Amino acid sequence: MAVIGYFNGQWIDPAEACVPLDERGHQFGDGVYEVIRAYGGRPFLLDWHVERLFQSMEALRIRPPFDPGACKDLIHALIERSGESEAAIYLQVTRGSAVRNHLFPEPSVEANVSATVRPVKSGATEAKSGRLLLVPDERWLNPWIKSLNLLPNIMAKQTAHDAGADEALLVRDGCMIEAASSNVWFVVNGELVTAPADRYILAGITRRFVLEMARDLGIPVREEKLPRERLSEVDAIFLTGTLTEVYPIATVVEHPDIPCASIPAERVPARSVGPEQVREVWTARDLGLVERLRAAFVERVRAWAGAIA
Ligand code: PDD
Repeated sequence: MAVIGYFNGQWIDPAEACVPLDERGHQFGDGVYEVIRAYGGRPFLLDWHVERLFQSMEALRIRPPFDPGACKDLIHALIERSGESEAAIYLQVTRGSAVRNHLFPEPSVEANVSATVRPVKSGATEAKSGRLLLVPDERWLNPWIKSLNLLPNIMAKQTAHDAGADEALLVRDGCMIEAASSNVWFVVNGELVTAPADRYILAGITRRFVLEMARDLGIPVREEKLPRERLSEVDAIFLTGTLTEVYPIATVVEHPDIPCASIPAERVPARSVGPEQVREVWTARDLGLVERLRAAFVERVRAWAGAIA
């Protein structure tokens, strides 16, 4: 089925031109977004996503164009309209459309709401594992806000892709805190280690779900930053995200020209890296705990989708 689009109350073809040029999301990336996964035609962890969307809007002083209830109704309507049961819903809220000016529009304008729904197939049920490239975290100081400004994430992920990796493992102040579009977890001595949900990472909804799941399963968790130097102590790594679900990692690579220990003051020229230039610095030793979590995740999603069907 086709991807469906929505802009300020209208159903549109996502390829159709409908966003004004003076739209602040387009001009400045001045907006926030959420990605929600529908399983069995229903939005998973919807309350948590809507709660985070409102936190992001508040952080950027964007006046919400709806209340949480109307936001949820819109998400349900989007899924229903798409007719998809396994889908990704992208919902963006921007500060609105006004003649380009860094200052907030005065008088204020209505926020713009846009969305797309596209079919996805479940990754969690597939037995695959990935490769990470270590890169310095070049994002701003508020990655906790789910803002539309994703340039550093895009550059990091593209570099990883060029190097033959699936994701970029971001290093800030010497610690491996997050990936370009997912949260990262380490298994060290039978314990899960993941960075605390401070200002430097996005507090993933899947991360929150997996934290609860690990506690239910009696798996110890430390919300701590893991230094790059301790990678050799790590038995397993996995990523979490709304579309990534629970995704095991097989290898970590690094590139000799991409230093992660500190960010050099000089301008860094555009890098073009190839898979032949990277070296493997870590290989999974024991994915047992990750497989257990992945199976529990799939099981819980199935049970939830079945219970509400
Ligand atoms: N990405 N960290 C970053 C930087 C992310 O972009 C994401 C999600 C996550 C995981 O968050 P959650 O579990 O709430 O999806 C962590 C989405 C899916 C995206 O931008 O497409």
